Amino acid sequence: MTLIVFFLMFITASATEKLCPLRASIDVLEGEYFFLCYLESMQEHFQEEAYTINWYKENAGKQQLIKETGRIVSQMNFLEFWPAELSDSGNYSVTHSNGKQNFTIQKWTLNVLERNKSSCFNKNHLTTEIKNAGTGHSLKCSDLSVNENDSITWYKDCKNYENETERELDFKTLTVQHSGIYTCKILISHKGKIYHSTNTIKLVVEEDAPEAGALEIVGHNEEIETEIGKEETLNCTGFLGYYMREDASLYWLINQKFPEKCTGIPENEPSICEEELKKLKLGNKFYVTTLLWIKKVTDEDMHRNFTCMLQADERTQMKIVKLKKGNTRDLPVHIFTTGMVLAVLFPCVAVAVVFVCVMFRVDLVLFYRNICRRDDTAGDGKEYDAFVSYLKDCISPTEEEREFALKILPMILEENFGYKLCIFERDVSPGGGKCIEYSCH
Ligand SMILES: *[C@@H]1O[C@H](CO)[C@@H](O)[C@H](O)[C@H]1NC(C)=O
Ligand SMILES: *[C@@H]1O[C@H](CO)[C@@H](O)[C@H](O)[C@H]1NC(C)=O
Ligand SMILES: *[C@@H]1O[C@H](CO)[C@@H](O)[C@H](O)[C@H]1NC(C)=O
Ligand SMILES: *[C@@H]1O[C@H](CO)[C@@H](O)[C@H](O)[C@H]1NC(C)=O
Ligand SMILES: *[C@@H]1O[C@H](CO)[C@@H](O)[C@H](O)[C@H]1NC(C)=O
Ligand SMILES: *[C@@H]1O[C@H](CO)[C@@H](O)[C@H](O)[C@H]1NC(C)=O
Ligand SMILES: *[C@@H]1O[C@H](CO)[C@@H](O)[C@H](O)[C@H]1NC(C)=O
Repeated sequence: MTLIVFFLMFITASATEKLCPLRASIDVLEGEYFFLCYLESMQEHFQEEAYTINWYKENAGKQQLIKETGRIVSQMNFLEFWPAELSDSGNYSVTHSNGKQNFTIQKWTLNVLERNKSSCFNKNHLTTEIKNAGTGHSLKCSDLSVNENDSITWYKDCKNYENETERELDFKTLTVQHSGIYTCKILISHKGKIYHSTNTIKLVVEEDAPEAGALEIVGHNEEIETEIGKEETLNCTGFLGYYMREDASLYWLINQKFPEKCTGIPENEPSICEEELKKLKLGNKFYVTTLLWIKKVTDEDMHRNFTCMLQADERTQMKIVKLKKGNTRDLPVHIFTTGMVLAVLFPCVAVAVVFVCVMFRVDLVLFYRNICRRDDTAGDGKEYDAFVSYLKDCISPTEEEREFALKILPMILEENFGYKLCIFERDVSPGGGKCIEYSCH
């Protein structure tokens, strides 16, 4: 993986004779030569024949196309400043356009700092490196590629340092006395004029520096359970130790290609994009963090390698994140939810139905008969379904009782519901024994 990245960077370098460094932050001093650039491999996934590249600067919330002047020159994947001025501070972006759609390849926030008139550096424009005494180390002058005629001068605490003119300042064995502020200055000639670029490193050599050289990605390779259509945010955080190293870069790769940068405009957001790098300080520890935002997980994403890379000091760390379908929640969310609701509701409904049946069993049977007009009583082999008795002999019944027993009851039960009643006075013929005779005492 690392090899591939370096290979891509190498291709870029050989095609343009200039290396595009991955920069975590962009602070630049006024009056110095500077450039913005993107790796050409970043636009590999827009495989179109005809396209245009546009550089924009944000002005009062609006993207304004950058017009080339003698001072600002766009060349291939570079936007050069000869030199940068204070008014160049702001937000920049570069887009790839195929005529129909514009894609943001990269965004930067450029911060142009004032030069310190009474010093060779600005103390807000330096990187700190903390090293252990007794180890070897080298300070690098700059990301800029240097031509044979560009001259390099090293200063320690603003005094010429040992007539050193190499790109790198090598220390075989560091001692505490090597601590200091090292500034290197490159002179670059361009169109007959000399421009310069400086880089300042604060070197702190300690007898026993705690985790000075720490550089690691928080967490390990992991598989995240997810589902198609779900939104996911992959977090990559790098621990940089006890000082903010400006040389560290942290970024995501999707199957070894750079993702697009998030635009921050919701309706314009690509389906997968990388959020801006953030620097964090928790206690006395320094971190950089970047989020990869996946709007909706697709089946294809399940087979991709999402790789987070952390680079500094020519060391590289990486973490591979893969997505896999969750075991517990294989179903799409709405089906899962509906299923759960039904599973909870069904027992309740069943209990309610049983309760209603028990409470209203008689009414239900009658209702059923009413609906089906069926008569189970006729075919059950019994001549009668019920015997009607009422007090008759002992105490003389009232007319209503007689009326009820002999007229109303038979009318309703026999005519409406098809029961066959045995009524003594009606059905028992003298001497017959089909109804059990019932009498008082
Ligand atoms: C640059 O963008 C950031 C948000 O990404 C915003 O906070 C800041 O104000 C912008 N700066 C300028 C100069 O527009
Ligand atoms: C893309 O950029 C071009 C040039 O700046 C602009 O004219 C056009 O409106 C943009 N198209 C979209 C879809 O944003
Ligand atoms: C500028 O240099 C002076 C003298 O060396 C120093 O006191 C001051 O802090 C410096 N300011 C910045 C912003 O570097
Ligand atoms: C370096 O300088 C020499 C002499 O001034 C010139 O001939 C040569 O073209 C220069 N090389 C570059 C790469 O600018
Ligand atoms: C640096 O160069 C000057 C003049 O060329 C010379 O006098 C001096 O001794 C050199 N210093 C070192 C440390 O080499
Ligand atoms: C990313 O992970 C780091 C370390 O685990 C954590 O401190 C940070 O808050 C996370 N960022 C987000 C946006 O969740
Ligand atoms: C993903 O990474 C693994 C190694 O962890 C590798 O074997 C595999 O080929 C990679 N897949 C893709 C699509 O790059």
